[in-house]
Amino acid sequence: MKATAIAHTNIALIKYWGKRDNVLILPANSSLSMTLDQFYTETTVEWSDSFTEDQFSLNGKIQSDAKVGRFLSILRDQFSLTSFAHVTSTNHVPTAAGLASSASAFAALALAASKAAGRNDDETTLSRLARQGSGSASRSIFGGLAIWQKGEANDGSDSYAYEIPTPSKLDLALVVAVVDAGPKKVDSRLGMQTTVETSPFFEAWTKQATLDLEAMQRAMKENDFVTMGEIAERNALTMHATTMAANPPFTYMQPLSLALMDAVRDLRVAGIPAYFTMDAGPNVKVLCLTKDAERVKEALSVHTSLLYICHPGPKARVITHD
Ligand code: PMV
Repeated sequence: MKATAIAHTNIALIKYWGKRDNVLILPANSSLSMTLDQFYTETTVEWSDSFTEDQFSLNGKIQSDAKVGRFLSILRDQFSLTSFAHVTSTNHVPTAAGLASSASAFAALALAASKAAGRNDDETTLSRLARQGSGSASRSIFGGLAIWQKGEANDGSDSYAYEIPTPSKLDLALVVAVVDAGPKKVDSRLGMQTTVETSPFFEAWTKQATLDLEAMQRAMKENDFVTMGEIAERNALTMHATTMAANPPFTYMQPLSLALMDAVRDLRVAGIPAYFTMDAGPNVKVLCLTKDAERVKEALSVHTSLLYICHPGPKARVITHD
């Protein structure tokens, strides 16, 4: 009753921001992401009747993590198990780079827990499960590019991700620029909730994100990188605008984030198609073509030395099991 799985992090090009159901983790809008080759979580789960409680260790240290505890209870319920689990996770991200991600964590945990329970869940089921740990984890079950469809049902049965083809003629890269390695000031759960409940821009955001996703899919089919980048950048800024209008207002941007965004705009003026995106933290991620990635990295190195060139990564996979 033991299995080890790996899942990679993902970065959304069309963001998930705001839930319509906080318990089932159902999003207000569909989102689209790229799974990254460089950063992943490796997780071992063991279910045993001899355990007297759940246990979770991360990078060699025992943790008390409410989100993991809650997720294990959901899995126990859905797998009809009565035993407790011991979970051991290692984040394969650069030390102290602030890139540890709940997406890779809950995708790896869902897959390892399912396999360790002797199940052979398909990817749709795994994505639906991972979603209940952290929304973005639904997309980390898949490699390359994935869409998390918001679904319409109230029970979450149709809210899961699926893989879409990468644009056939584009060799995509994503340069991650680390601004701050510290923990988030407003975690995504609280940030979303405040936005949904108080931001007058929230409704406009969900409408725009839906249009952005359609336009992004068209641009991808047409291998139109400039349009893809423009949509991704504007989508990220629209999401961040919702937080600035919330009550109390907040922002994930730091002075260095803004400097990096300017550097990306300068690159475009110099003829390099590069477009930024940003999540619930100050790090800036730059979408570009592989042939330009070194040039992008060099331009950003004036502002930070913590830079990583990523490419579309593989799907979540089991590496060992009993
Ligand atoms: O899955 P969560 O709760 O960590 O939320 C992720 C939210 C963003 O990273 C900001 C956007 C996204 O779609 O990944």
